[in-house]
Amino acid sequence: MKRIAVTGAVGNIAYSLIFRLAKGELFGANEPIALHLLETKEVAPGLKAIEMELEDCAFPLLKEVISGDNPEKVFEGTTHLFLVGAMPRGPGMERKELLSANRKIFFEQGKALDKRADENAIVLVVGNPCNTNCLIALHQAERLNRRNCHAMTRLDQNRASALLAKKAGCAVTEVEKALIWGNHSTTQVPDYEHATIRKKPVKDVIHDENWLNTTFPSQVQKRGAEIIAIRGKSSAASAASAAIDAMSSIVHPTKEGEWYSSGVYSAGNPYGIDEDLVYSFPCRTLKDGTVQIVSGLSLSPELVEKMKVSEKELKEEREAAYVGSSV
Ligand code: NAD
Ligand code: LMR
Repeated sequence: MKRIAVTGAVGNIAYSLIFRLAKGELFGANEPIALHLLETKEVAPGLKAIEMELEDCAFPLLKEVISGDNPEKVFEGTTHLFLVGAMPRGPGMERKELLSANRKIFFEQGKALDKRADENAIVLVVGNPCNTNCLIALHQAERLNRRNCHAMTRLDQNRASALLAKKAGCAVTEVEKALIWGNHSTTQVPDYEHATIRKKPVKDVIHDENWLNTTFPSQVQKRGAEIIAIRGKSSAASAASAAIDAMSSIVHPTKEGEWYSSGVYSAGNPYGIDEDLVYSFPCRTLKDGTVQIVSGLSLSPELVEKMKVSEKELKEEREAAYVGSSV
């Protein structure tokens, strides 16, 4: 049985995520599921309503629901964790401004992961700033495999694929290998140079170089803020959908010649990025479940320069987060 944890279970994203997980979207129709739902003490009473709705859905695969406000209890034996619970940003804010409020959540939950999660647990950090929150958690969760800890840049990848498809007038499934490097922030590097549309290089299909080099990256980088400005709240359904896509890519072997973007621990990366960051790279999951950073991609000087800017921002976040310290 897969034991799937969702933190921030009464929040916006969780409401779009939990029911899809309970339906079996991640592991298919034959895998029973237990849900482990975590909230803060103040909001924990709201978990009752989520549990009632789950019951009313009569999901055949859902065998057990465990909920509460104690991370150690809720994480007991969990195999797949969606760490969503964290403060979201409001209009005009940058995600890194959330660090002072959210860092302690990931410090505490990293410790709880270390004590209670399954030793092969796979962790996807969604709460922002997700790269640095993931770094904080993995430094506490020493028992876990660091390569199993991910920060979600899949929403950015999905946004990039959708934009390229719209511009090319093709189906989104015809866009492959769109890629995000770096931080889930405005310094992220959406990369079309390694992507293909109908198996051809993007530049052979979209001839508008100005759009590719300026409009495209800027729209991906600012999409989250644009949604907040219109909706008053951050993206939720698309974030939940990306979280399922991200975890699905991580747990299932990657098809030959493909990759997915994920924020992973940078130790041993082949692109010269600082070795103690969570940085978004092209990744593949091998048949034995190992996650590898794809090596050997040739990078244009423009791309390298942008990747360095994102790396610098992540180093600054690492410093501001006092990674490894509880204060
Ligand atoms: P929300 O405010 O609707 O829900 C967050 C929930 O987390 C709240 O119910 C809150 O009580 C809970 N929470 C806070 N501290 C907690 C803790 N210590 N343990 C358990 N639960 C806790 O916010 P949301 O819209 O669901 O967004 C959640 C986070 O996800 C935000 O930080 C947001 O910025 C981020 N996000 C990331 C991406 C991404 O692509 N990586 C996309 C969208 C949103
Ligand atoms: C997003 O990209 O939509 C999320 O990270 C929410 C945000 O703060 O932009």
